[in-house]
Amino acid sequence: MRTLSLLAQKGGAGKTTLAVHLAVLAESLGERVALIDTDPQRSAADWWRARKLPQPAMAECAPENLAKALEGAKRRGITWCIVDTPPHAGQFAYLVAEAVDFNLIPCRPAPFDLRAIGKTVDIIAQLNAPAGIVINAAPANRGDVEMPTTIEARKTLARYNLPVSPVAIIDRPVYQHPMDDGRTYIEHYPTGKPATDIATLWSWVQQQMGVAPQQLAVAPQARQQTAPAPQARQRVAAAQPAQRMPQAAAGGAKRPATSTSAPQGAARPRQGGEAQRPPAPPQRQQPGAPRSRPAEQSTPPVAAAAARGGR
Ligand SMILES: Nc1ncnc2c1ncn2[C@@H]1O[C@H](COP(=O)(O)OP(=O)(O)OP(=O)(O)O)[C@@H](O)[C@H]1O
Ligand SMILES: [Mg+2]
Repeated sequence: MRTLSLLAQKGGAGKTTLAVHLAVLAESLGERVALIDTDPQRSAADWWRARKLPQPAMAECAPENLAKALEGAKRRGITWCIVDTPPHAGQFAYLVAEAVDFNLIPCRPAPFDLRAIGKTVDIIAQLNAPAGIVINAAPANRGDVEMPTTIEARKTLARYNLPVSPVAIIDRPVYQHPMDDGRTYIEHYPTGKPATDIATLWSWVQQQMGVAPQQLAVAPQARQQTAPAPQARQRVAAAQPAQRMPQAAAGGAKRPATSTSAPQGAARPRQGGEAQRPPAPPQRQQPGAPRSRPAEQSTPPVAAAAARGGR
């Protein structure tokens, strides 16, 4: 199991927005994802409740209980934990930064934010924890060319001596609102720029974590063409003997690489053949363990309509 935090002492940097989008993206690529909300504001957990879909799984816990929540997730066969964190977390930020494999620090390309990121970078530096920065809510590019605000932000961020994602996440209203069926925009439009930017960020994060090139994420649309819908995959798994997720090619490098080169986007064959979901989780929840909804609630509306002969 791999673990990623969204960490920023500054409020409103985009921790929750990116946590949620990376989680649904990773899930769409066949990972078994748990979002862990350690922020008392519970924004990610509120999003999950409104979503009414089983994936990704969700756990809520105080930062001091994160280690226990991660253990619970691992026991349940989760392959990726994405940890949303509170702003102004103080000492708790150290706990989170130390507990995960990699810390992704979102930063808006604005003067206050570019200054405030120093506090988060200090925590990372004191722990020598693996981390990288992503510019979030950047002005829209002109074609493929970044706007001066983003370019200036990159120059400022360069002084922090951490890798910076080559893709900046653009300020887009579609990242703010779930669709009527609880899904995110990027799940409905996996070939659009909002989705491919998140996919590129995800590939970059994996690269920083030392994930082997063959494990780099495929673009969501590529997987859509080749893989069955998540619900269908679940049924297949239930009809076959349960098989544990291969432990892996796990154990990516704990320290980040310094490269900020673009991701390679190579297709990722699933280890051990097509996805096998681990055994169904027990009904009773352990404290801090990620929960998911029962299968009967899990049919996405579009799949359900198709099964009924609808569109
Ligand atoms: N790339 C983006 N495009 C458009 N809106 C965004 C983007 N990123 C974040 N936002 C919006 O900015 C606001 C703050 O984002 P978010 O809640 O993700 O930040 P946060 O770091 O989790 O904040 P907090 O520190 O309060 O937990 C939200 O309204 C969110 O919808
Ligand atoms: Mg938040």
